[in-house]
Amino acid sequence: MRDLPAPAFYKKEADALLRSHRLFEQSKPLKELMSHLKAELDEDFGHGLSHSQKVAIEAGAIVFVEGKNTPGPQIDHIMFKAHCAGLLHDTMRKHKDHAEKGATYARKALHFLGFPEKEIGEIAFAIACHEAFRVQETPCPMGPDAQGLADALYDADKFRWGPDNFAHTVWDMVSYARIPLPLFMTHYPRALEGIARIKETFRSQTGKLYGPEFIDIGLEVGKKLDAIIRNEFSPLLSKHTVPSHPTTP
Ligand SMILES: [Fe+2]
Ligand SMILES: [Fe+2]
Repeated sequence: MRDLPAPAFYKKEADALLRSHRLFEQSKPLKELMSHLKAELDEDFGHGLSHSQKVAIEAGAIVFVEGKNTPGPQIDHIMFKAHCAGLLHDTMRKHKDHAEKGATYARKALHFLGFPEKEIGEIAFAIACHEAFRVQETPCPMGPDAQGLADALYDADKFRWGPDNFAHTVWDMVSYARIPLPLFMTHYPRALEGIARIKETFRSQTGKLYGPEFIDIGLEVGKKLDAIIRNEFSPLLSKHTVPSHPTTP
């Protein structure tokens, strides 16, 4: 898989990513939030602190790119809110309707940490509408900045459906759920189709620009793995009916 390119986002927006990373590392409130979260986030399901940190930093970079004309201190503060939303977005990932439940949890945690009510509302809104394939029916009542924050969180989270998915997320989820390989391979073609559909859902201009490439690279990884697994484990899989992905040679 090393022959596949890194998504252009990392090279083209390296300055935004560096700024987001530095702000994230230097923030005392984020350190406090992370220590609060360590007890809450499970690492065994592919959506723990490492996933949340990556989403946080990339959501911060997206709001920075989107807000090129916003003054420095103001954009830094929007990035901070993106970092909070990223860290908190998947606390309820193992539950049904995890986005809404995560938003409720975020409200409580941020209230406990003394955040202003307006910021709590914006961060909770972003978390509540980050789930894939759920259409947001009304625009954000808190205005365009809050909508921009929500869009950035959604897009940074869906960037993870690219190479990251097959590098670790899916394997963590399969191992957590103890799904046997033949059963997993039965669902594989439909899973790839679902991943492809996410390309149409990116929300910010930055997400629309870079997101589809993340997904295309992820799909390439997925198809190569499909071929490798079917080759390496063919005796095990042949005992079960496992349809090949149509594009797999
Ligand atoms: Fe999520
Ligand atoms: Fe997530």
